[in-house]
Amino acid sequence: MAQQEDVFKKIVSHCKEYGFVFPSSDIYDGLGAVYDYGQNGVELKNNIKQYWWQSMVLLHENIVGIDAAIFMHPTTWKASGHVDAFNDPLIDNRDSKKRYRADVLIEEQMAKYEDKIQKEIEKAQKKYGDNFDEPQFRSTNPRVLENQRKYDDLHRRFQEVMNAEGGIDLEGLKQIILDEEIVCPISGTRNWTDVRQFNLMFKTEMGSTADGASTIYLRPETAQGIFVNYLNVQKTGRMKLPFGIAQIGKAFRNEIVARQFIFRMREFEQMEMQFFIQPGTELDWFAKWKETRMKWHQNLGFGAENYRFHDHDKLAHYANAATDIEFHMPFGFKEVEGIHSRTNFDLSQHAKYSGKKIEYFDPETNESYTPYVIETSIGVDRMFLSIMCHSYEEQLLPDGQTRTVLHLPAALAPVKLAVFPLTKKDGMPEKAQEIINDLRFHFNCKYEEKDQIGKRYRRMDAIGCPYCVTVDQQTLEDNTVTLRDRDTMEQHRVAISDLRSIIEDKVSITSLLKKLL
Ligand code: GAP
Repeated sequence: MAQQEDVFKKIVSHCKEYGFVFPSSDIYDGLGAVYDYGQNGVELKNNIKQYWWQSMVLLHENIVGIDAAIFMHPTTWKASGHVDAFNDPLIDNRDSKKRYRADVLIEEQMAKYEDKIQKEIEKAQKKYGDNFDEPQFRSTNPRVLENQRKYDDLHRRFQEVMNAEGGIDLEGLKQIILDEEIVCPISGTRNWTDVRQFNLMFKTEMGSTADGASTIYLRPETAQGIFVNYLNVQKTGRMKLPFGIAQIGKAFRNEIVARQFIFRMREFEQMEMQFFIQPGTELDWFAKWKETRMKWHQNLGFGAENYRFHDHDKLAHYANAATDIEFHMPFGFKEVEGIHSRTNFDLSQHAKYSGKKIEYFDPETNESYTPYVIETSIGVDRMFLSIMCHSYEEQLLPDGQTRTVLHLPAALAPVKLAVFPLTKKDGMPEKAQEIINDLRFHFNCKYEEKDQIGKRYRRMDAIGCPYCVTVDQQTLEDNTVTLRDRDTMEQHRVAISDLRSIIEDKVSITSLLKKLL
């Protein structure tokens, strides 16, 4: 675990050192849980968004996109339930004056029991090697059984208080924290306040005078921008059910436990798609979207074992199925995407609060009804983080040196091709520029002439550039260059005129999309 934490710290500093992610307003020492994307980060992020957008809007004839404003009429958030119920249960430690999410403290306690079990299993695995029978060990080892019992008891109690009649049982949450003897990580004491609910929406005022101003919110999810535009899009696009509306945009949440770098941010970006369907068909569509979205993730080639579904035991009152796609981050399996069967809750609420009829006339059944919705909702930043975590490697080379390399999927890499003149003379820089001038219309290229070639390769490995080309003396004679592959580090000579056909397909988003069909 400590080793994984170390790796994670290295990834965070790598992101800063190589222009992927900077703390926001860095010269003022940053702003909690807000980050800026640098010159390489923005390219990677744009590629992720393109991969998602095109997989939704290009590959599905019945999905269209929109771009709704961040500010929305305040009644939107009353209707959606966010004003009344978008809360986190918080608890303060009186000694450290630090504030925590009570539910997270308990989840961390459960993770501790899971860790203990895992450690026992790893120890036994080492000891017994190939003869190790994990199911048998789990069902007989006294330490594993004891920790499993503690985990199960805690899990059951936690579910009960989180799903209590009339909302979360705040006293029950505190009691669990006391009974489990959870201490504040800063002060080490158990001097806790009561648990209180805290709304996560950021508020601001719109209007020039104090009297005329109204309170509006920074949207905590992009989904509502889709729901309030359902009628506009359905009518103007003459859309027939089933159809989807996709959107990418910023969302804001005043997260209290904002940690783990860009995993939990106060300003972040979502890629959401609401799929409108006939009532009664939702569980089939839910299963279909689960499969489609998992395929989209696994298509990146990070290994199926690094993903899992986490079906929700606890469903929001309007949902009749929900699951998360979790990815194996250095700090455990964590949610990257949520898939929810939201019934007709949102559209019905907006119909009620706006007084507008929000329905679909089904020409096949001659009936009008409020469509049901399957939502797929993924955080761009979490996707970015999962890609970074999986791609980062400190590789020990045969000559005893190490190189830091990002094995980014070529289609997502910020720079696709780096072109180096071997030396700064004899017309090599001009030749290198010529190559770039020709290829820059097709993919992102970078020119580098500083330092020895070896150092230039390392810099490109560190930003995940899949291909490097070196212009040398021979190039000037026969118009060939050496082409180096980031992952294998192998080099071979190719004609300049073949570069585009060798590289273009491998680095294009289209290559990823084709594998989805
Ligand atoms: N419209 C549904 C919705 O917003 P959610 O599970 O709250 O559902 C969806 O959020 C996705 O948005 C999450 O799976 C996660 O990837 C991302 N996300 C949510 N809160 C985030 C935060 N504070 N920082 C970064 N990403 C976040």
